[in-house]
Amino acid sequence: MATKQTKKSAPKAKKVAAKTAAKYGYFDDAKKEYVLTTPATPIKWCNYVGTLNFGGIVDTTGGTLVCKGDPALNRITKYIAQMPCSDFKASTVYIRVKNAKGYTVFSPFVVPTLTKMKKWECHVGLSYMRWIAECEGLRTQVTIFVPTGSNTLLQDIQVTNISGAAKEVDIIPVYEFSHFEAEKQLTNADWVPQTMTLKGHWEKDGHVVLEQYAYMKRDFAVNYVTANCKVGSFDGDRRVFLGANEMGSWAAPLSLANKELSNSECDRGDNIAALMIHAGKIAANKTFRTCTQLGQEQSLKVASKAIAKYRDLKNVDKAFDELAKFWENYLSTIQVQTPDAAFNSMVNVHNPRQCHTTKNWSRYLSLYQLGYGTSRGIGYRDSSQDLMGVMSHMPEEALQLALNLLSVQRPEGNAMHQYAPLALEEDNGNEANAGDSREKKGVLDENGNPAYADWYGDDHLWIVLTVANYLKETGKMDLLKKEVPFYEAGKKRAQREKGSVLEHLKRSLNFTRTHLGKHNLPLLGFADWNDCMNLPLGAESSFNTGLYAKALLEMMDICEALGDTKSVEMYKGWYEDVKKAFNDSAWDGKWWVRWFDKQGNAYGTNKAKYGKIYCNSQSWSVISGIATGDRAKQGMDSLNKLLNTANGVKSSTPGYRGFDPNVGGISTYPPGAKENGGIFLHTNPWVMIAETILGRGDKAFQYYSQINPAAKNTKLDEFESEPYCYPQNILGDEHKQFGMGRNAWLSGTSSWTYQAATQFIIGVRASFKGLIVNPCIPSAWDGFKVTRKFRGATYEIEVKNPKHVCKGVAEMIVDGKKIDADVAPIFTKGVHKVVVTLG
Ligand code: GLC
Repeated sequence: MATKQTKKSAPKAKKVAAKTAAKYGYFDDAKKEYVLTTPATPIKWCNYVGTLNFGGIVDTTGGTLVCKGDPALNRITKYIAQMPCSDFKASTVYIRVKNAKGYTVFSPFVVPTLTKMKKWECHVGLSYMRWIAECEGLRTQVTIFVPTGSNTLLQDIQVTNISGAAKEVDIIPVYEFSHFEAEKQLTNADWVPQTMTLKGHWEKDGHVVLEQYAYMKRDFAVNYVTANCKVGSFDGDRRVFLGANEMGSWAAPLSLANKELSNSECDRGDNIAALMIHAGKIAANKTFRTCTQLGQEQSLKVASKAIAKYRDLKNVDKAFDELAKFWENYLSTIQVQTPDAAFNSMVNVHNPRQCHTTKNWSRYLSLYQLGYGTSRGIGYRDSSQDLMGVMSHMPEEALQLALNLLSVQRPEGNAMHQYAPLALEEDNGNEANAGDSREKKGVLDENGNPAYADWYGDDHLWIVLTVANYLKETGKMDLLKKEVPFYEAGKKRAQREKGSVLEHLKRSLNFTRTHLGKHNLPLLGFADWNDCMNLPLGAESSFNTGLYAKALLEMMDICEALGDTKSVEMYKGWYEDVKKAFNDSAWDGKWWVRWFDKQGNAYGTNKAKYGKIYCNSQSWSVISGIATGDRAKQGMDSLNKLLNTANGVKSSTPGYRGFDPNVGGISTYPPGAKENGGIFLHTNPWVMIAETILGRGDKAFQYYSQINPAAKNTKLDEFESEPYCYPQNILGDEHKQFGMGRNAWLSGTSSWTYQAATQFIIGVRASFKGLIVNPCIPSAWDGFKVTRKFRGATYEIEVKNPKHVCKGVAEMIVDGKKIDADVAPIFTKGVHKVVVTLG
C-alpha cells in the first residue's frame, strides 16, 4: 500500500520538481533523492551514511568523514571541514585515461582535480551518495554507502566507455587516515605522526589489503582498505603519492604520471591508502566495475570475512538492495498524500530520514559540530527530543538510547548534560559531564556559594516525554519496572544506586518540584532549552515551567494507564500549582515573560530594551495548557506580530546590540543571529503545534511552509543550506543576510517539525487508548490521506474536509463502524480503514 501511494503521489511531486528546476538541483521523489547538478554549492553540502556504530558524513564532492562508535575517540578518516570546498578532504577517486603523450586525470567528484565535466550529478540518496559524471568519453558512476549493520564503507565504481573507441583506463581511489583521537590529529604533530602506521599485505592472487593503525591500537583495532579486484600497486605514504616532497598536490599528484605507484608503506607520518587499479582497455560501450572497502575491525583476521563478502559484487548489490528495503520499510510507517507537494516531500522522505540521522549523531558530528574532544557527545536534552522523531519507526532502538540517557540521570533527579558513547561502554564512572556549565564552575556569589548551577533545568524533564512517547507507541508498560542505574560520578555502574524507569521519571518531576524560585516557578539551572542565557542560580524560567507542566501531563497519562489514580491526583495538584504560579507572575500584559533573574527582574518584557519578547514562552504555555483564558491566543498573536518573518519565527526581538556580561552567550552573536533574534528553527515547530492546539490550521501551516527547506529550492542563493534537510538556524531580519540557513542536519528542528506535521497538522498520534486522528489543517484543503503503522496494524486513513474548516472531528468511521470519539482502536494486526470527516 505504501509503495502504491508513493507511486501515485510521484507525478505531482515531479511536476513541482520540473517547474522549479533550480540552479543547483531538484527533488526526485520517486527515487527519494535530491539530484544536485553542479558541484559549486553555495556552501558545503553533505549526506550521512551508516550509523553512529560505523559511518559518518559524505560531502557532495566525495569527501568522507568516517568514524566508528564515537567521532571524537574513534575517527578513521582525516576530513578537515574548514578547508575550501575545492580541496581534497579525506578521500577521492582519480580516473586516469591513457593518451598519446601520457595520461589525462580527472576525479568524478570534480574535487580535487577541478576538471570541467560534460555532465555531473550527485544523487543525495537515503544513506547513500551516487555521482554520475561524464568526462573524457567516459561515464563514471560512483556509489558510496555502508551496508546495514556492517563496519565497512563501500565505494562502487563503474566506468563506461561512451566515446565510441576503446580507451585504456586506470582507477585510483584514495583515503587519508586520521589519528583515532580526532582532536589530537589537529593539535599534536609529534606523537601523532610517530604512531601512525600503514602496511601493505599482498595476497597471492594480486589483491592487496592496506592495514592502518595508530601504533597502540595495533592489537585492538585496525583500519583497512582493499578492492574486489587485483591492483597493480599502492601507496601508503602521502609524501610519496603526492611527489616531490609534497610539491605535488592533491589536484595533480605527481605519482600519477607513472604507470605504477611506489608500493610505499608508512612507518610514520601521513597515512593514506591509494590503490592503482588497472581497468585495462575498456571497449566502446563496455563497463568496468570495481568496489573498494574501507573498514575497521579488531584485526585483519576478523576483517577477512567482510573483505571476502564484499569482494563479491553480487553481495555489494544485495547490500544496496537491503539498504533500500530498510528505508522502504522505515518510511512506510507514516506516508501522507496531501495537496501540498513540498509538504509531502518532506514528510514522506526527507524529514523522517533526518530524524534517523539526529537519532544517531545527536549534535556530535556534522560540518558544523565537528566531533572533536569532549565539548559535545550525546546530549541529554537533544537526544531525548530526537528520539521522539523516530519513536513510531524504531521504538526499540530508540529505547536503547533512552536507557543510556536514563543511566546518566543523577539520583537527585536532574541529569548530566551529555555523555560520550565509547566512554559509556568503558564504565569508569567518568562517562558523563555537566556541559558548558563547567566553564562557570568555581564562580562564587556574594556569599561565597557557587553562583551558577551545574545542572540544566530542562534536561531531566525531556526524558519524561520520551518515555511516555515510547509507552504510547508500543503499549509495553513493563518498561516502567525495568531497573536502571542512576549516575554517580566516580563509581562503576554495578556500584551505583538503581531505580525502576518509573522511579527515574518520578525523580525528574520531583527535582523540578523542589527547585522552584521566588515566584514558585521552576529554576532555570545553568540554562533551559536556550543554552545562551545563563543567569546566576536563583533565576526562574518560563520555558522550564511549560516543559515541567507538559511532563506532568504525560506522567498523569502514564499513571492513569497504570490505574494509579492516587498519583494522577498528586501530579494534577502539582500541575495546578505551577499553572497558578505562572499565571500570577509571568503575564506581561500582551505576552508571557521568558525569565526572572534571582532578584526577580523579568526578561522578555515590553519594558526591556533588548529581548522584549521570546518565542518559547508563548508556544510552551499553550503546549502545556497552562496559559489561561485569552492569554493563550494573545501570546501567540503577539508572537505573530513581533517575531514572525517570511523565513520563520525569530526566537526573540530585538537582538542585543553588543556583548553584555550580565546575559552572556546570547549577546555574543550579532542581532539576528542564532539565539540573539535569529530564526532558531527548533522553536518553530513548537509554534506550529501551539497553533494546532488553538485550532488555527492556516497559521500552523503557514509557519510550517515558511521554514520548509524543500520549498526553498528556488531560493538557494539566499538560503544557501541543503534544501533536503532542516538547518538549525536562519539569519533573522535584523541581519544583513536575512534568510541564510546554517548548521544543517543535526538540529531538534527535525524531530519537532516531524512531530508537528504528522501528529498535529495531520493529527495522527499514538495514545494509550488507540490511534488519535484529530487534524488541524489549512481550511483550503479538501482533505488528505495517510497510512500509519501502529502496534502491528496498518491504518489507512482518509480525512475529508467538506466544510473547509481547520479543525474538529465531526465523524470517525473505523472499518465501517461509527466511533464516538477521535480515537481508532488498537488492532495489533491487519489493515484497517479509518474515515474521518471534519466539520
Ligand atoms: C543547540 C543545542 C540545543 C539547544 C539549542 C538552543 O541546538 O544543541 O541543546 O537547546 O542550541 O540553545
